[in-house]
Amino acid sequence: MKLANSIAVVLAAGQGTRMKSSLPKVLHKVAHRSMLSHVLSAANGAGVRRHVVVLGPDMSDVEADVQALAADEGSDTRFALQTQRLGTGDAVKAARDAVSDHQGPAIVLLGDTPLLRSQTVSDMASGLDEADIVVLGFRPNDPTGYGRMMLDEAGFLKAIVEHKDASEEERQTNLCFSGLMAFSSVSHLQLLDQLTTDNAQGEYYLTDIVALAKKAGLKVAKAECDEKDVMGVNSRVDLAKAEAVMQARLRQGAMESGVTMQDPASVYMAHDTDIAADVELEPHVVFGTGVVVEAGAYIRSFSHLEGTVIGSGAQIGPYARLRPGAQIGDGAKVGNFVEIKKADIGNGAKVNHLSYIGDATIGAKANIGAGTITCNYDGFNKWQTVIGEGAFVGSNSALVAPVKIDDGAIVGSGSVVTMDVEKDALVVARARQEIKSGWATRFRERAAKIKQAAVKAGAK
Ligand code: UD1
Ligand code: MG
Repeated sequence: MKLANSIAVVLAAGQGTRMKSSLPKVLHKVAHRSMLSHVLSAANGAGVRRHVVVLGPDMSDVEADVQALAADEGSDTRFALQTQRLGTGDAVKAARDAVSDHQGPAIVLLGDTPLLRSQTVSDMASGLDEADIVVLGFRPNDPTGYGRMMLDEAGFLKAIVEHKDASEEERQTNLCFSGLMAFSSVSHLQLLDQLTTDNAQGEYYLTDIVALAKKAGLKVAKAECDEKDVMGVNSRVDLAKAEAVMQARLRQGAMESGVTMQDPASVYMAHDTDIAADVELEPHVVFGTGVVVEAGAYIRSFSHLEGTVIGSGAQIGPYARLRPGAQIGDGAKVGNFVEIKKADIGNGAKVNHLSYIGDATIGAKANIGAGTITCNYDGFNKWQTVIGEGAFVGSNSALVAPVKIDDGAIVGSGSVVTMDVEKDALVVARARQEIKSGWATRFRERAAKIKQAAVKAGAK
């Protein structure tokens, strides 16, 4: 089954009351990406690039999140409004206008299954080669709450019975409905007109479409997948479980592509973390979004990186904080307690200890001494610091931007540099050193006398 011609209907109008959150459920994040975006990205990966997302009223922030993904991945995502939350069947119905001009197959996905993989979508859809409708099931350890997939004697799917409507006997079935279905044509969604609310929850159940389709003579097949692919997130506890599974997948993917992790379980990655082969990570490295690490870099413990590119062979940390816009050159070194933001660190440059480098360009092989601070902010605006190739900035210097220190220049330790420094010059911007011979001895003698006099006066 080729999915290029398919459309996905993604149900996301639910309130997610069990999340106890002011944020719509599907916007909660797993590996720094919303659950809904994970689902849509899995659909894109399977070649399903047209989406209709069903939202409830007042969910415009969900639209913004989804549009960002659509722009990134080049998908065509539209929205349908379900004005009242009358059940999953009603939610799919709400999408029908938006899909009416569509000619190919349709798949129904849920917005709260962030672990969904493209392969699972393709596997389900491949069943459409032989059937009109494919229903995806799984066998969870604990089937409580899920709809049960009832089979006839020959093993064909008869109907789906919701947990709340199921008899004790029906509840013994551990084959559960994942919430995902594939339809060979959007025209099968006309069956939704026959749904009723005659059930324990008084809702229009999408699941009733199975029995209706059978009655209409359509061929309904079942497929099965791993519980982890379709686990639904309904609470913060579920969210943490999904995060753990996602992190395990990301770590495994990195190791399979050649990354050494001394203690994988302590490394946290974002969905888009991109680490090349022969990178080594010590324990406790945390990645936010937008990080690329090139081959052979070494990242020590307790480093936190986001929006950063690390060049090949660079050495980072321990305890480095790399913020958005940090670009670390090949073979450069960024040491402990160094914060870098929006700055280019040239190839082979060193910023080894206790520094803040923000809004700056540092030339190749420059050496930035311990405690150097770029003073980039005047309370209103941010200003640039430019440091040339091979420049040497002495320890504990403050570089007051905008300022330029040209190639090969040396900044004397403890300087506060406020004006540009020319190539190969020395700048010393601090009080000139004075020596007063014997001053300390004279000071101590005088101080001791004052103390003695005070003690005597007190004894009287
Ligand atoms: C649903 C299935 C159940 C299945 C389970 C898998 C039905 C009737 N039941 O149950 O068989 O085992 O998923 O997780 O389909 N939604 C809307 N509008 C609504 C209702 C729901 O958009 O009016 C959306 C929700 O945002 C959610 C999804 O549909 O993303 C599923 O809804 P939920 O209430 O979680 O259904 P379950 O009771 O879990
Ligand atoms: Mg659910």
